[in-house]
Amino acid sequence: MTGPRPGFETLAIHAGQEPDPLTGAVVPPIYQVSTFAQDGVGGLRGGYEYSRSANPTRTALEECLAALEGGARALAFASGMAAEDCLLRTICQPGDHVLIPHDAYGGTYRLFDKVLAGWNVSYRPVPVSDPKAVRHALEEKPARVVWVETPTNPLLSIVDITALAELCAGAGALLVVDNTFASPYLQNPLALGADAVVHSTTKYLGGHSDVVGGAVVVADPELGERLAFLQNATGAVAGPFDAWLTMRGIRTLAVRMDRHCQNALRVADALAAHPRVTGVLYPGLPHHPGHEIAAKQMRGFGGMVSLRVRGGEAEAVAVCGRTRVFTLGESLGGVESLIEHPARMTHASVAESPLAVPGDLIRLRSALG
Ligand SMILES: Cc1ncc(COP(=O)(O)O)c(C=O)c1O
Repeated sequence: MTGPRPGFETLAIHAGQEPDPLTGAVVPPIYQVSTFAQDGVGGLRGGYEYSRSANPTRTALEECLAALEGGARALAFASGMAAEDCLLRTICQPGDHVLIPHDAYGGTYRLFDKVLAGWNVSYRPVPVSDPKAVRHALEEKPARVVWVETPTNPLLSIVDITALAELCAGAGALLVVDNTFASPYLQNPLALGADAVVHSTTKYLGGHSDVVGGAVVVADPELGERLAFLQNATGAVAGPFDAWLTMRGIRTLAVRMDRHCQNALRVADALAAHPRVTGVLYPGLPHHPGHEIAAKQMRGFGGMVSLRVRGGEAEAVAVCGRTRVFTLGESLGGVESLIEHPARMTHASVAESPLAVPGDLIRLRSALG
């Protein structure tokens, strides 16, 4: 695209998605193919050779994701965890140290604790919402990477990305932001100084609970090349149909996120007035400790709301089992409302760890309707 930089919705619909030059198809076709005919040995058409290395449907998704996050390069993976794994194995060496949030997504914690620790990459959970705590941790032991989520899953804490980017630049660490909960519509961490963004595209980007995927977007093209090398070497790529489904979701991301944000605020307000609720965790509420930073760095407060109930874990589990309209299930980001009990479901992998989530906590994913 030429001329002034298009708006978010235009990029979501057009970036990487020019009409197919051969047929004029207005959306990129699903190139459900493993290999590509060569015009003589090494004579590749458009650079395509074998779909693990590159596939045109995946390229379209990657170009779109790079445009939406304002990155130099995006890579699409088979899942969010595959994206995290490829990024970490690209930027870390045995002996490196990583700071992670003390309320990280359970799967991310498991990757550090049960997989990367075995390869001598150490980690330390830190309250990353507090830049002073991060500074102290970096002074005590230099880190190769500071890994954050904002808002976090499931406690909805907010991290000041600009403040941490400055700290990381001064300490020679890379700042990685898991932007799954915000989506690129609400927040662009690279513009705030982060080095890499990861997504579980399974969530808001895909948006319809029908595909699992992940992405890494980076500001530095050289880092993008190294990631592409490891992605091809290890192979956890997004398949063509999954890439196509994700792109189809992305085209309506803006309107979906606007409605998610509106509905989540109404749900949070209603819960805050409920006598059995002891706390509502939603960055859009003025009393949320991260409200001001969220208002500064996000274009909306997102669709996720967590709450704590008076009757403890037993009541939280009981509530999760008797809702109407809200379906009991893991994941988020689709069009339907979901409810879950993080301690026993999405975050069971952090039970009895320093990252364990409270038993009286319920997580809601507000729907479009
Ligand atoms: C914040 C966050 N990051 C990463 C992931 C992992 O993504 P996936 O399930 O697509 O592997 C999840 C999954 O729930 C998540 O919520």
